[in-house]
Amino acid sequence: MITAITRAVSPAIVDCQLSFIQRQTIDLQVARDQHHAYEQLLKKLGARVVSLPAEPNLPDSMFVEDTAIVLDELAVIFPLGTESRRPEADSIAEALSKFRKLKYITLPGTVEGGDILRVGRILYVGLTKRTNAEGIRQLAAILAPHHYEVIPVPVTGCLHLKSAATRLGRGTLLANRAWFDPSPFFSFAWINVDPSEPHAANALPIGDTIIFPASFPRTRARLEAAGFHVTPLDISELQKAESGLTCSSLIFHT
Ligand code: GLY
Repeated sequence: MITAITRAVSPAIVDCQLSFIQRQTIDLQVARDQHHAYEQLLKKLGARVVSLPAEPNLPDSMFVEDTAIVLDELAVIFPLGTESRRPEADSIAEALSKFRKLKYITLPGTVEGGDILRVGRILYVGLTKRTNAEGIRQLAAILAPHHYEVIPVPVTGCLHLKSAATRLGRGTLLANRAWFDPSPFFSFAWINVDPSEPHAANALPIGDTIIFPASFPRTRARLEAAGFHVTPLDISELQKAESGLTCSSLIFHT
C-alpha cells in the first residue's frame, strides 16, 4: 500500500521562505483548500494519507518532503538547510518511527528532501544552498550498507533539484535542464518543460497517474503527447510559497 504523510498548512505560511520567486499575498483559506484537494486526490489514487496537524509557528512545515527520505529499509531524517525550518523534522521523525527505523544526518551536514530524486537504488542529490556536500557525504555513508548509490548533482537555477527535474516513469525525466547539470542523467529520456513554463518540472507520479500543476497546460500537453496519463491539480496559491507537488508529501510503501 502507498502511504503519504502530509501536514496541514500552517497559519504562518504567509511568512514562508522564498528563494527564487517574489513574495505575493497568500490567501490562507485558498491554500488550505488546495492542500485538502491534494490530500483527497492522493486518497482517490489509492494512498493512505496520514495527515499531521498544522504547526502554527513553522511557516513552511507543510513541505514535509524536505525533512526526510523514506526507503524500504529505513528513513533518514535531515537537518534542513534553513535553520528556522529545522524544528519541522522532530514531528516527522516521530510519525515515521511507526513505519521505519530512523537514521539521522548531523550538522554541519544539511539535506532537504526536495533535492533527492530517487530512481530505484540510485539517489541523485542536488547540491544547492539547502543541501551541502557534507550532508550528501553522510547520506551516502548511511545508505551504502543498504546498496544505494548517491550521486551529487550541481543545481544553480532553482530551490531544489526536484524544482528542475522529476521522474515520470518509463525511464523518462521531466526537466528544465537550464537549472542543473544534466550530465549524471545520461541514461534517461527527457521531456523538456515548455519554455514559457520554466517552473513546470515538478510532477508527482502515483501509480499510472502523473499529478501535475494545472497552471502549466503547455507542459502538460507534452506529457500527454508522450502517452502519460495526467491529472491536473490547482496549486496556484501554494506555488506562491515556492511549492511544487512532491514537496507536500512523504510517500512510501507499507
Ligand atoms: N517555501 C519553501 C522553502 O523555501 O523551503
